[in-house]
Amino acid sequence: MRKPVVLVTGAAGEIGHALIYQLASEDQSAIVTVDLKPLDKQLERRVMRAFTGSILDKSLLENILAEFAVDQVFHLAALLSTRAEFTPVTAHQVNVEGTLNLLEFAQAQGRSHGRQVLFFYPSSIAAYGVDPDADDGTPIRENEATRPITMYGCNKLYCEHLGRYYARFYKQLDAEQPSGRVDFRAIRFPGLISAFTVPSGGTSDYASEMIHAASQSEPYSCFVRPDTRIPFMAMPDAVAAILELARAPHENLSQLVYNISAFNPSAQAIRQLVLHAFPGAEISFKPDHKRQAIVDSWPQAVDDSAARADWGLNPKYDLSRAFNDYLIPHISKRYESG
Ligand code: SER
Repeated sequence: MRKPVVLVTGAAGEIGHALIYQLASEDQSAIVTVDLKPLDKQLERRVMRAFTGSILDKSLLENILAEFAVDQVFHLAALLSTRAEFTPVTAHQVNVEGTLNLLEFAQAQGRSHGRQVLFFYPSSIAAYGVDPDADDGTPIRENEATRPITMYGCNKLYCEHLGRYYARFYKQLDAEQPSGRVDFRAIRFPGLISAFTVPSGGTSDYASEMIHAASQSEPYSCFVRPDTRIPFMAMPDAVAAILELARAPHENLSQLVYNISAFNPSAQAIRQLVLHAFPGAEISFKPDHKRQAIVDSWPQAVDDSAARADWGLNPKYDLSRAFNDYLIPHISKRYESG
């Protein structure tokens, strides 16, 4: 008998790290991971099997299929928005072809064990492309302004469509009616801020970088203007949202893709909070107009009313609680203890 497990790709990344800690603490399911990098020791202890390899390696996925019965896939592996602009073809391969591989994997799993496979997909505010001059801060709904300007945003938006295809229309002309094995659910995340990891290769990274640099007494030069405003969320709320959506009864879900958000401070407001917590911090602004244009194409605010109504999104951390109760205490402890 193959063992029933949860599969997490991109396990060593920011969200993967936090999600695995949470899943392991609940002790409900065995976790199998895939990442290009080996997991750190603390993370590795929490999983049943960690595969080091690429989601583009189909034989790796076939081996997992042969050994495990996967009921849930959290497909987190991706190249983020800044890195993707330097290597757009690689980004497309990892972000789109990788996701296609995982959707096929989920479909094959469902066929072999006969149950639906939950497929959680992290989409992003990068799926939007707003006109910065017209963005007055009115929250954007899921079906508005989906004209991304980055390779990463295009990849995310297209993979939302692929997910809908696998969930509802897969091989729709086939006599066997194979669709419906993949239960695809996606969240368009805002910028995420974690006390335990620093993102790499993203364009919303300035918030995290500012906080983590200040806590280590390193000067930081912020690559966007002080008045730049996009939605952010603290990592524990992001993980809670993933699990709330993943566990919501299917009949409660009116859509496959949901906005979520918690707070949307300006870069200047983040700086003020960091200075309050670390009074000696040196934080200056040196906008990079190219990265600025990417952030400016993301909405200042998103409408997350569907997530609140359908599956009870209710973030615990507003901006000040995120700093005072989560980021500052944990980050200070982390760097004090080396
Ligand atoms: N945080 C991501 C990035 O900056 C957007 O989803 O690329």
